Amino acid sequence: MEKDNNKTKIKNVAYDYGISDFLAQLNKGAFLTTQYAGENNVMTIGWAQIGMIWSKPVMTVLVRKSRYTKGLIDGSKEFTISVPLNCDKQKELAYCGTVSGKDENKFDTQRLKLLESEKINTPCLDMPGLHYECMVLYRTEIKLSDLDEIVNDTWYHDGDTHTIYVAEIVNTRFVNK
Ligand SMILES: Cc1cc2nc3c(=O)[nH]c(=O)nc-3n(C[C@H](O)[C@H](O)[C@H](O)COP(=O)(O)O)c2cc1C
Repeated sequence: MEKDNNKTKIKNVAYDYGISDFLAQLNKGAFLTTQYAGENNVMTIGWAQIGMIWSKPVMTVLVRKSRYTKGLIDGSKEFTISVPLNCDKQKELAYCGTVSGKDENKFDTQRLKLLESEKINTPCLDMPGLHYECMVLYRTEIKLSDLDEIVNDTWYHDGDTHTIYVAEIVNTRFVNK
């Protein structure tokens, strides 16, 4: 499907469309949006994988237990990833990567508009780039006793472990302005 609205072109694409652009921007940050029980939130992620597991296209993300985002994903079992392309959102990424949704509504303060998703309830962000609608298939908390010692010392000395979420990518759209 391709539609024109206010000069915005939205195109449904394959889950691996523009994957090298996805990886290049991920290095600088992407937005993870959540929504559950009347609450919504957005945070920055830098760690993610796109691949194929259980014969399904999947997005794997790692979210620390201290994040406000975690409770919302655990409640709704879904999230979206918005990867800004051909636009500069580094200021907003830095902000959403340091301030918590526990303390303020980052959509309002950062003027981040929402774009309704097609297959899930959680919206994407209305900006040029790649947008993934993801439904959680599996989650597991990192077990420190099974983790490489150097990785453990580098990333988890404060005990704030990540939960790994493996989610099916049920829809991918490319937004071009
Ligand atoms: C570039 C960048 C990448 C980040 N990647 C992650 C990540 O992959 N997982 C994570 O748990 N936190 C990550 N963070 C930190 C969270 O975005 C940050 O703690 C945020 O304020 C959490 O928001 P929340 O409490 O509203 O969920 C990253 C921060 C930045 C700046």
